[in-house]
Amino acid sequence: MLSLPARCLLRPPRRPLPAPSRRGSSGPGRRWLLSTPIFYVNGPPHIGHLYSALLADALHRHRGLLGPGPGRLATGTDEHGLKIQQAAAAAGTSPSELCVHVSGLFRDLFSRAAVSFTDFIRTTEPRHRRAVQCFWAALQGRGLLYKDFYEGWYCTPDECFLTQGQITERPDAQGRPCKVSLESGHQVHWTKEENYMFKLSEFQEPLRKWLQGNRHVISPEPFYQVVLRWLEEDLPDLSVSRERSRLQWGIPVPGDSTQTIYVWVDALVNYLTVAGYPDAHHAWWPAAHHVVGKDILKFHAIYWPALLMAVGLDPPEQIYVHSHWTVHGQKMSKSLGNVVDPVACFKQYTVDGFRYFLLRQGVPERDCDYYEEKVIKLVNSELADALGGLLNRCTAPSINPSGIYPHFSESCFRKGSDHMDVEASGRALAEDYELVASVDCLPLQVTDYFEHFQIYKALESVVACVRQTNGFFQRHAPWKLCRDNPAEKCWLDTVLHVTLECLRIYGILLQPVIPATADKLLSRLGIKPEERAFTDLTFLPRYHGKPCPFEGRRLGPDTGALFPRLETPRRRQLEIKGLRP
Ligand code: MSP
Repeated sequence: MLSLPARCLLRPPRRPLPAPSRRGSSGPGRRWLLSTPIFYVNGPPHIGHLYSALLADALHRHRGLLGPGPGRLATGTDEHGLKIQQAAAAAGTSPSELCVHVSGLFRDLFSRAAVSFTDFIRTTEPRHRRAVQCFWAALQGRGLLYKDFYEGWYCTPDECFLTQGQITERPDAQGRPCKVSLESGHQVHWTKEENYMFKLSEFQEPLRKWLQGNRHVISPEPFYQVVLRWLEEDLPDLSVSRERSRLQWGIPVPGDSTQTIYVWVDALVNYLTVAGYPDAHHAWWPAAHHVVGKDILKFHAIYWPALLMAVGLDPPEQIYVHSHWTVHGQKMSKSLGNVVDPVACFKQYTVDGFRYFLLRQGVPERDCDYYEEKVIKLVNSELADALGGLLNRCTAPSINPSGIYPHFSESCFRKGSDHMDVEASGRALAEDYELVASVDCLPLQVTDYFEHFQIYKALESVVACVRQTNGFFQRHAPWKLCRDNPAEKCWLDTVLHVTLECLRIYGILLQPVIPATADKLLSRLGIKPEERAFTDLTFLPRYHGKPCPFEGRRLGPDTGALFPRLETPRRRQLEIKGLRP
């Protein structure tokens, strides 16, 4: 039989961990102010919104495991603008009533989804109004605003101005030609009014320098390249106010009651409001790490840094960009009637099941498609069967009747040496050493992936290890070993110990993504809440000749299957069989 030196199998992680100072993120003691975008309140939340929030939540929870703070996670609602004014009018309600109602829906959704936000901001709050007006005064004080006649296309659903090159013509629902945004497909209208303009053009060079000096500031990398390309084009000044006669639902320009501040300036300043601007933001700024969808990249990677530079503040440390979810291959839209309600998803797949699906399948670089069967298949195979099945098998009373974390025997699973042979290794096989090597490397690998905003890859590597552990368990078939034979018992206990150790590591690493399930898993193993941080990730200490605090400890109570298998609803089964339209 081939025996491999364990040392060779202990591979280094795929890439070294980034230096925290360079990427400005997770070093112990380092501050971070993570944010989601703030959400428009013209309609209820959908799964795309939830995805933005979950990405930020997983990053926040992951950093929390690296060491206790100081970190914050801010989210909230974007409540001003023409779009909200029009949505309220269409719903026959007042803007403020609409805002209270829909903002509440977002807040409830995030609480239900276990998004661990520390701050929830509404742009209609007085603290925000004050911050925006101070910010405006700072721009004005530095001579970066001027009044001019603005003429151009405005897209209300996107709340932005577009150049001629950014629009195209398409027939509307009645077949009449109409102008739409090339990027979003939403209709645009010609506007001509006197506005305040921000001297954005003056920041083209400073923005380029900032990006060239901070190659990791926007990730994933393709989005960084997109922004650099934008900066090669013309960067015209930006209209930053609207006539109050057209837009009443917004923050008035200080000292000019005829103008309302442009909703994007208002919205972007939310990040500063949360940080305590204008009095107390220095403790948190610029430790800002924004998670944003690709559709709002220009606002965050060009307008926002330029506005910050304009008032003498640093740009954010990090911008994480994600792509979009489609449904059955189509863009989600009210008119197509295919908007997916996240609360319905929680009912169908459980909160953790749906969190897992979105974060495991969501690849920030490209759009991802949602459909029911995909969720059910993934969650059943990875959470219910692979992870839940493994826990069930190694804690079953028939295999582990005493219900304890069993002892590890060095003589059965010897520490690898360069010339290890079968005798020297006890009963462990080459594949078992590979498993130890993989799980040893896993925490660093997972952290590396989180740092690079590749949460899906972190999950992929955890699942690969879970599968390897199932292979280990199956290979040694502990159910065939006889407890009454001391030699067999020693090996049986060792197999169980190694399996439980693997599960302990997976439980700790999965906390940022499936917090409730990870808690259930770790509680079943008898791991106390204070033993679940990254400092507790030393895998299989007994193998490395160190004591294991869990050995001999009673397992936690059995509270049932770790994760319930999901069923395809009968309605869908009939649809799939073609028995229902
Ligand atoms: N209010 C602005 C953001 C201001 S931040 C200073 C806004 N709001 S939004 O409600 O339209 O979008 C909020 C987030 O949801 C954005 O990051 C956007 O990309 C994301 N999503 C909206 N639809 C989405 C999908 N279909 N899929 C994934 N995310 C999507 O923009």
